[in-house]
Amino acid sequence: MAITIEPFFHKQTSTISYVVFDNVAKLAFIVDSVLDFDIESGKVAKSFAHDQLDFLLVNCLKLVYIFETHAHADHLTSANYLREKTGAKIAVSANVVGIQKHFKAFFNDTQLIADGGCFDLLLDDNQQLDFSDTRINILSVPGHTNDSIALLIDGNVFVGDTLFMPDQGTARCDFPGGDAATLFSSVARIHALPENFKLWMCHDYQPGGRPLAYQCTVKESKDNNLHINNESTLSEFVSVREKRDGTLPVPKLLYPAIQVNIHAGKLPKREDNGQAFIKIPLMI
Ligand SMILES: [Fe+2]
Repeated sequence: MAITIEPFFHKQTSTISYVVFDNVAKLAFIVDSVLDFDIESGKVAKSFAHDQLDFLLVNCLKLVYIFETHAHADHLTSANYLREKTGAKIAVSANVVGIQKHFKAFFNDTQLIADGGCFDLLLDDNQQLDFSDTRINILSVPGHTNDSIALLIDGNVFVGDTLFMPDQGTARCDFPGGDAATLFSSVARIHALPENFKLWMCHDYQPGGRPLAYQCTVKESKDNNLHINNESTLSEFVSVREKRDGTLPVPKLLYPAIQVNIHAGKLPKREDNGQAFIKIPLMI
């Protein structure tokens, strides 16, 4: 069995979501799905999810898992919608419960039961999931967030936001539960994998206007990553990362993304006037 990887680029959020499939067994999983959301109007759409559903349909693939590499702060997940349409299981790190508890308190979210129950599979470090005649290995890679995982299957590693392409480096570590020193260790874990393993990124912001890129090898990453490479020391990285994080703006979709993603992509219930809302905390 050989797996095939089909990337889908969501331009508005610079997210790359993957449909990974075995074209013989006709089984598939999705990594880091996206729900279309317009912050100005509040309009929710499912066109990106439908691009992936159409792909599954055309290729006669049965979706078995929907993975979230972490609770994203920059885009909304369509995991719940994909689950409704396919019956696939939503799989996340068991550490998502800590993220839920934090943000349930922050948003005073009375609709959320913060026990991970809105997801189907809560994954532990080094856990293995059967997929066709192979296995998906779960690697806990905290740092960007405490619930970050990487998925390893047949020499391919879906790294979430633990690494970006070498010319962009790493993602911010200043969200609650994030930690630059911890990210350094997590990247070292990925860089310790065989050099020919392929890393698949969750985001690409096309620095300098270069063409979209989302895949490199372990060797390319550890030789050339802007922030953590063969030459990097922990103290240098932490200093660079924390300095940069101090300059970064709040992600445009932070509040809606977190509120929806800790519910596995379920939108807030409609209130008694028939309207659903997202909260924005006032910094006063
Ligand atoms: Fe992220």
